Formats: sequence, C-alpha cells, structure tokens
Amino acid sequence: MPTTLTINGQRHSTDLPPEVPLLWVLRDELGMTGTKYGCGVGSCGACTVHLSGVAVRSCQLALGDVDGPVTTIEGLGSPENLAVLQQAWIDHQVAQCGYCQSGQIMQAASLLAETPAPTDAQIDEAMAGNLCRCGTYSRIRTAIHSAAARLQEG
Ligand code: FES
Ligand code: FES
Repeated sequence: MPTTLTINGQRHSTDLPPEVPLLWVLRDELGMTGTKYGCGVGSCGACTVHLSGVAVRSCQLALGDVDGPVTTIEGLGSPENLAVLQQAWIDHQVAQCGYCQSGQIMQAASLLAETPAPTDAQIDEAMAGNLCRCGTYSRIRTAIHSAAARLQEG
C-alpha cells in the first residue's frame, strides 16, 4: 500500500518500503535534492528537514515513522520570496562550498521557532550537530543573529 506524505504543503505518495529513510524518498523518489546526503548515520546534519516544524535528520527517519508534515529547504522560501534566514545567509555570505548549508538553515529555522532571540551559547548548542567542513561557524552565528533581529522587527 502506498505511503502518503505531506511535503512543503503538497501531498505525495510513494510505493517505497516503510523502512526506507525519508532522505532517500526526498532525493531519489521526489527529486528534492536541496536536502543533502552527508554521513548517512545521523552525525553531520546535512540532511536536516523539519517534521511538524522540528528539525530532524532525514537519513535517520524511516518513511513509516513520518507522522506529520515535512518541510525541506525547498519549502522554506522561494527564489522570488526568500525566507528571512536564507536572505541573512546571503547578506553575510555564509556559504563556502555550500554542501552543509541547507541543513544548517533548516536547523537554524527550528531554533528560531523555539527561541526567537538566541544567545551565542544557545546558537552553539542548537547548531552543534550540524558540521561544516569549510568552517563557516562564525558566519552562521552572525546570520542567525541577523535573522532573529529582522524577525523580531516584524
Ligand atoms: S546525512 Fe543525515 S546526519 Fe549526516
Ligand atoms: S560550506 Fe562547505 S561544508 Fe559547510
């Protein structure tokens, strides 16, 4: 029996088995390649998406365990209407190779939803599981503060 998912507000169905990780469904079945495959074992954060608004590692979430709406980087904003975090990432030129950055942004969005004005320590704690081999951590922190300020201004 097909599994039905809501991703970025749209319904999708798949015949893949329930044990297949959500990351594979997103990338290989649905062509949503903004979510990246890094380690495949829950240790890098490259595959971070939101499940019911909370950051999760899609390489560790089986299709059969998806029990709420999923948001990926493709659903956070659009090229015409970037999310505040995406614009902050551009303004502060966060990305180097860029590979980790969709996961970073999704993790940061989950943080700001819970903690609208995070301290450096709160940012570091929330982002600790998202690795960046290019070492963009200080710019990530700056961009999160910048987005937090803009969101607070409304
Ligand atoms: S690919 Fe999922 S945490 Fe690394
Ligand atoms: S920007 Fe290259 S791994 Fe993070």
